[in-house]
Amino acid sequence: MSGLRLLAGPSLSSGSETYADHVRRLGAATLAGRALIEALGRSGLTGRGGASFSVAVKWKAVAVASKGRAVVIANGAEGEPQSHKDRLLMTTRPHLILDGAFLAARTLRANQVVLYVGEEHGSSWAAMERALDERPEAERRIARMVAAPHRYVAGESSAAVHLVEAGIATPTTTPPHPRERGVASAPTLVQNVETLAHIALIARYGDAWYKSAGRRGAAGTILITITGGVKSPGILEVEAGTTIEEAVAMAGGVSEPAAALLVGGYFGAWVPVDKGWALPLDAAALKAQGMNLGCGVIGVLPATRCGVCDTARIMRYLAQESSAQCGPCFFGLRALSDAIGRVAERGTNRDDLARLKRWAVEVQGRGACKHPDGAVIFLRSALSTFADTFASHPAHWRQQPA
Ligand SMILES: Cc1cc2nc3c(=O)[nH]c(=O)nc-3n(C[C@H](O)[C@H](O)[C@H](O)COP(=O)(O)O)c2cc1C
Ligand code: SF4
Repeated sequence: MSGLRLLAGPSLSSGSETYADHVRRLGAATLAGRALIEALGRSGLTGRGGASFSVAVKWKAVAVASKGRAVVIANGAEGEPQSHKDRLLMTTRPHLILDGAFLAARTLRANQVVLYVGEEHGSSWAAMERALDERPEAERRIARMVAAPHRYVAGESSAAVHLVEAGIATPTTTPPHPRERGVASAPTLVQNVETLAHIALIARYGDAWYKSAGRRGAAGTILITITGGVKSPGILEVEAGTTIEEAVAMAGGVSEPAAALLVGGYFGAWVPVDKGWALPLDAAALKAQGMNLGCGVIGVLPATRCGVCDTARIMRYLAQESSAQCGPCFFGLRALSDAIGRVAERGTNRDDLARLKRWAVEVQGRGACKHPDGAVIFLRSALSTFADTFASHPAHWRQQPA
């Protein structure tokens, strides 16, 4: 690759880049308006917050509905416990994110920009606030910071709108999607902060430049968080299409033999290592195989850990994080968490195994948001990847930290 893109520039350890340094290094964006939307379409850029949705399609929908009163929300909630890439970007390159947000506002004729930052991400909040203070007055006038509560669902797009509107970060029934009717009933673009940073670079260098990075037919770069059994866990910027094996090698390689890989974080999937190493970090290619790049988390499960116990721990967390508004999500995830908890603690029993398999299908598609769907897709991947362990799990509960 021609080098880092989002993370290019001054050393990350030197903190956030100032506006003066940012402008000196990158100059001004040359594309905006319709030309920018067309470039985004040609680039094929998809969102980095979890759903990998087409950026151009969303921008076009907001542009059509806008009529001069759209709203832009830069989503820096980063509620996924294993993900740290949005925090790193907000802390070190806040002006790339702000460029993307203000370009969106200009293009979509938005009169409000909300910087929605996780309340627990203290240094990211401080860097974004400082960066906003450095921006031109016309930008500062329409922008404000809003704290995202420390809850998993607070980063979901309708929950972000709900918080801005009414101070409550719970998802609301969709449709209408925020892009149709969001803050103050205006069409609202909710875009992940990494996505906005890519937009800032495409607005300077164009779609052909964006696509000049990428392996195996994929385009651009991706921020990923590698966790678990690797020698140097952390955040990497890799070319899209890089295989998991290549990314793990960039993180120093495995620290001990691996049993399985978690691709996409808590809304992703467990994959056996023999299948997982060759998977490309490319949203479209993973989708074609029934998987999800999500927010770019890759977890390496060492053979010394128990996949069933780890899954039970994560299911308990996801059940607790339901916003308790929809029965199938609140009761269904709790029942699933209890059943897998019993298998982990007391050992396999056929009734609980049968319940897990049945409920993991029944819960899907029955919530107002995708929270239960993400949880049961994750659970089903565990039932398949750790099928042998589930079949004869001993009576123990290896309470392991995340
Ligand atoms: C339960 C849940 C939690 C989510 N949390 C986040 C989050 O913390 N940050 C984020 O950017 N997107 C999150 N999303 C995805 C958002 O709903 C939305 O798709 C995203 O912010 C849109 O931006 P993008 O298209 O640039 O990815 C979450 C989705 C769900 C269902
Ligand atoms: S599906 Fe779950 S998390 Fe989503 S709104 Fe309903 S109860 Fe809340």
